Amino acid sequence: MKSSAKVEFGDFQTPLVLAREVCELLQRQRIVPEFVLEPTCGCGAFLVAAAETFPAAALRGCDINPGYVERAAAALHRAGASSRSRVVCQDFFTHDWESELLETSGELLILGNLPWVTNSAVAAINGTNLPLKENFLRLRGLSARTGKANFDISEWMLIRLVRALHGRKATLAMLCKTATARKLLRYAWQNDGRIGKASLHRIDAASHFGASVDACLLLARTGFASPMEADVYESLSAADPTGHIGLAGQDLVADIRLYRQLRHLEGLRPFQWRSGLKHDCAAVMELRPLANGTLENKLGQRVELETDYLFPLLKCSDLSNGRLTPQRLVLVTQRGVGGDTCGIAASAPHTWRYLQRHRSLFEARKSSIYKGRAPFALFGIGEYAFAPWKVAVSALYQPARFQVIGSHQSKPVFFDDTCNYLPFDEEASARVVADVLNSAACQQFLRSLIFTGSKRPVTVELLQRLNLGAIADTSGYGRRWQTLQRVNYNRASDVPQFELAMESATPIRHTHSASRNPAHYPPARRSRKKSPKSTSA
Ligand SMILES: C[S@@+](CC[C@H](N)C(=O)[O-])C[C@H]1O[C@@H](n2cnc3c(N)ncnc32)[C@H](O)[C@@H]1O
Repeated sequence: MKSSAKVEFGDFQTPLVLAREVCELLQRQRIVPEFVLEPTCGCGAFLVAAAETFPAAALRGCDINPGYVERAAAALHRAGASSRSRVVCQDFFTHDWESELLETSGELLILGNLPWVTNSAVAAINGTNLPLKENFLRLRGLSARTGKANFDISEWMLIRLVRALHGRKATLAMLCKTATARKLLRYAWQNDGRIGKASLHRIDAASHFGASVDACLLLARTGFASPMEADVYESLSAADPTGHIGLAGQDLVADIRLYRQLRHLEGLRPFQWRSGLKHDCAAVMELRPLANGTLENKLGQRVELETDYLFPLLKCSDLSNGRLTPQRLVLVTQRGVGGDTCGIAASAPHTWRYLQRHRSLFEARKSSIYKGRAPFALFGIGEYAFAPWKVAVSALYQPARFQVIGSHQSKPVFFDDTCNYLPFDEEASARVVADVLNSAACQQFLRSLIFTGSKRPVTVELLQRLNLGAIADTSGYGRRWQTLQRVNYNRASDVPQFELAMESATPIRHTHSASRNPAHYPPARRSRKKSPKSTSA
């Protein structure tokens, strides 16, 4: 079983064989460092591999775990590299990286594998291994309180290192989740462009780390400018790239070269995409109608409720599998974000009593977006949600398949928050838009934008980039597009929408060396004093 300390410190030690493969790749790329820094060196696999591959380089390793520091020093001793190496016990978060990097001169290689854990996973176990300022992406309001404020610790650390380099020439070679690598590149390209040449080399995280996550070696040269794109290789040994990701506007796209050919399909957006209903209380809010006219909730309880607040519900799997006749109902307690819910007591007393009976489940909803809201409050709700026709798509599955959904038994169909949609008053308009969205041109453009393997590939932001008019022209739907009725659902368009964006490493088995050798973790941190303890290798 994974100990909470292993979770908190994102402890996935790199097997020596993989560290050697990475160093061989660096050697093939003619990288000859004079100084190698492993900022969270663990048991020292990367330091040993670097000692073997770069016999003239000075080596420095740091880790918060004193047991690992000793092991790394001993491993370097066995590798005959004691005299040119130093391993210290120190906390990444409190360390003065600017001074450290200023002190080093010559060709610098920052090499290794940072902790694999998200800030919310650390917080969930009351851990303290976190940067002091969590909202480092400067997210505001709802974004800061939903998935967008969740980040990988390694993303924070990588950005910290890139910032500390201050535009200096160096090579960064880090194993990380592919999503983290992309986020670092996006950050660097958007902010200061200090990352020049970059590439992603996929690794098999399941076999090396027992983690079912898309991971890679991020190789980036800092200190000079180059086109903001990175080559993607299918493995560490692949000679030719299979793709090129890059920055297009404010975001990264999966295939920058295809995107450049199709960029005329991006732009003006006459419609506002919406994400589905968010209630975080499926056990009570989602019900299945039974043959005898009663309803069953997800707790297995049979209830009788007024129909006023019940609406047909579809989920992302329904949309992707083409199961378009709703089998479930959802309780919709508000007509807009912030609306009053107390009126339910008078208009639907059974429903009100049912909600009251389960009040504690609503109050236990973890997300802080519900704090200070009306009881049984929802998000992803506005007049648009009651539109009779919708073009909906699963946010979780690709390729994106757009479905036209009309009212069911005279009620508008709702979607849960794993779906995105456009609302329409008329079927004809919905059908034109769905045809445009499912056209070959649109699907090809989406392929250029969407990263395979993302947890939530089809976001509102991504859909918002589609210039449906231009796509209609390109795909032969121009005339039908001209006849389209534009519905104004802007009344609720200032209601914030949000996405749950984070990807996490899910351990599937424990084969990596750390699980065989229990670590000596430091006690939970109370203060952040800087007291580096050095172990000469
Ligand atoms: C994914 S493991 C990788 C270890 C090593 N880089 C390797 O490749 O085998 C992450 C390492 O980060 C260390 N670590 C976690 N939090 C740290 C912190 N705040 N400061 C320094 N090291 C930390 C852990 O002890 C662990 O050894």
